[in-house]
Amino acid sequence: MKKVERVLIVGAGTMGQQIGYQCAACGLDVILYDTSEGALGKALTTMKKIGKAMEAGGRVSPEAAEKAMARVRTTTDLAEAGKDADLVSESVPEDPKLKASVFASLNAICPEHTLFTTNTSTLVPSMIAGHTGRPDRFVALHFHDVRITNIVDIMPHPGTSEETLEAVREFVFQIEQYPIELKKEQNGYVFNTMLTQLFGSALTLASREVASVEDIDRAWMGIMKTAVGPFGMMDSIGLETIWKVTDYWAQVTKAPQGKRNGDFVKTYVDAGHLGVKTQKGFYNYPDPAFFSPDFMKGIK
Ligand SMILES: NC(=O)c1ccc[n+]([C@@H]2O[C@H](COP(=O)([O-])OP(=O)(O)OC[C@H]3O[C@@H](n4cnc5c(N)ncnc54)[C@H](O)[C@@H]3O)[C@@H](O)[C@H]2O)c1
Repeated sequence: MKKVERVLIVGAGTMGQQIGYQCAACGLDVILYDTSEGALGKALTTMKKIGKAMEAGGRVSPEAAEKAMARVRTTTDLAEAGKDADLVSESVPEDPKLKASVFASLNAICPEHTLFTTNTSTLVPSMIAGHTGRPDRFVALHFHDVRITNIVDIMPHPGTSEETLEAVREFVFQIEQYPIELKKEQNGYVFNTMLTQLFGSALTLASREVASVEDIDRAWMGIMKTAVGPFGMMDSIGLETIWKVTDYWAQVTKAPQGKRNGDFVKTYVDAGHLGVKTQKGFYNYPDPAFFSPDFMKGIK
């Protein structure tokens, strides 16, 4: 398999920006494709901020940060975007029909050798594989927040070839991430399977008004010694995504509390409070209350 040099990021939102930045900082050529011209403009601005934050946190060297953005191009022309990509990382919204149609279009455009990967949070790759035209070269490659971690999940479907797995593993190391491999498909990656339970419990406590959002976060942060609690994490992921995932599982499991949890998050989404990306969610940004030393005052 050809070594990955050119990466096509499809969908220039929260995740596309982060994945794109990481690839560029690791020396790869990146093309960002989005259907929205506005999203591409915003993505470039945000990626520069991601770079500054990662440089300040020591996650990229000043030399890599300086060169990264020069490697990023943007386009709304899919044919132009796909024509010489070695690997596609797809981060369009979490809708199986949309993802399927995006990959079908890409298959008609991309070279034979191009590897297709999806960053889906909740779908399994076999739901999309049949639409890619190259199921053997298709796998889920799921990123977390690259600003704070380098853990990436690889989830094959039964038709993913061993060569693809090897090439994707190599790509993951190339972009200085660490692959966690799932041996079989399931709804949810390794960390997310555990995190979903945490978010569900936190939302249940808040939606039933058992404890405040802040106190739920304080309990987690104070005992686990983390800088952020479950509600801060949900703001960072984006409350629309949290609502969609919560609502999806409430429908699958028919659990009444799951539905109540989804409705609780939906009140924020309906008000346009989507978390960090809109500067307002459970907390206000860029300086959320949990950043202040006063937030944990008295907790050792
Ligand atoms: N947000 C997270 O923390 C997170 C983490 C891991 C995985 N994911 C997954 O990544 C995917 C994207 O999530 P996000 O939070 O980045 O979403 P987002 O809403 O921030 O960004 C999605 C982008 O896709 C673009 N888009 C819509 N239709 C498109 C199309 N047909 N072609 C190209 N671009 C299109 C939109 O204009 C938007 O810019 C989802 O599948 C989500 O489940 C999200």
